[in-house]
Amino acid sequence: MTYSKIVGTGRYLPEKILTNFDLEKIVDTNDEWIRTRTGVERRHCVAPDETTSDMCVEAAKAAMDDAGIVPTDVDMVVIGTTSPDLIFPNAATLVQHRLGIPACPCIATEEACTSFIYGLSIADKFMRAGEAKCILVVGAECITKLVDWSDRNTCVLFGDGAGAVILKPSDEPGIIATHLGADGQYKDLLYYPVGASKDLHKAGTDEAAIMMTGNEVFKVAVKTLGNVATEVLEKAGVSQDELNWLIPHQANIRIIQATAKRLNLPMEKVIVTVQDHGNTSAASVPMALDVGIRDGRIKKGQLVLMEAFGGGFTWGSILMRL
Ligand code: ACO
Repeated sequence: MTYSKIVGTGRYLPEKILTNFDLEKIVDTNDEWIRTRTGVERRHCVAPDETTSDMCVEAAKAAMDDAGIVPTDVDMVVIGTTSPDLIFPNAATLVQHRLGIPACPCIATEEACTSFIYGLSIADKFMRAGEAKCILVVGAECITKLVDWSDRNTCVLFGDGAGAVILKPSDEPGIIATHLGADGQYKDLLYYPVGASKDLHKAGTDEAAIMMTGNEVFKVAVKTLGNVATEVLEKAGVSQDELNWLIPHQANIRIIQATAKRLNLPMEKVIVTVQDHGNTSAASVPMALDVGIRDGRIKKGQLVLMEAFGGGFTWGSILMRL
């Protein structure tokens, strides 16, 4: 039996940092409100000419260095993002070309904040089927370009970044179990109203911005993130006491605390980056994984549960041994 295992991680954060105090000068808000309601203190924002693929390339280079591989070793690219440079060619194709990765399957996944979990889960299936031997998986988001900077309900929440992992085959897990889900009935609670074929007249207007019913999203997120964690643990026959680390989607510290409580996990076992990164959507889980590994908290052989929840709604979880 072949499993897939993460053998390298990396992240990239844009240079510009926007603090809550900077935001006080832009919209009617204050540091205290943002910190107590969301846990966010600062976020990174792309430069005007910086794109999602720019961030993917930097995160991928860091992950390849960490794994001790070069671009020609990679035989599949998966990029999870809701903010690709272009509608097509897809984000994975752009990144493959820029890194000099030879011709191979290039897949883009687009499940909002769950895009990386979907992407890693798909990569795991390819690896187990023996169809790839070295996969680059990236979660990246240029979400500050999708936000209405005059809407205090949304603009204080988000940040940009990219997190990457390298997946290789292994005789032992590695990825133990994955669980994915979605329920389209919630599409109106969190969405971006302009795409390639609907309401194109909204493009370039004030209406082209993230729409969110925050408190409704909050309720479903807490319930779903608790369930999605339990489901993957049950699938793997693992008890929550055995977990070394929970790496949840970094949307809001209150959602993270509520999820940890539902799982009976102390916050010391939870990787939290929301204070420094904000909600970076698809990038949040792989960046938090990289933070936890590089600062020495997450160690080889430990049991890690990653989970995410996003627009759609979509959700997913991955249980793995590092
Ligand atoms: N600064 C100051 N006041 C604000 C701000 C702000 N930035 N934003 C809203 N308020 C005000 C509101 O206008 C409201 O005022 P009112 O009572 O006079 O009407 C008051 O604060 C409370 O507003 P609520 O929306 O009820 O505040 P809540 O406690 O629900 O917090 C928040 C809002 C932070 C958005 C919360 O609902 C949340 O985190 N929801 C989940 C959002 C999320 O995680 N989205 C993404 C998840 S999925 C994904 O990542 C794609």
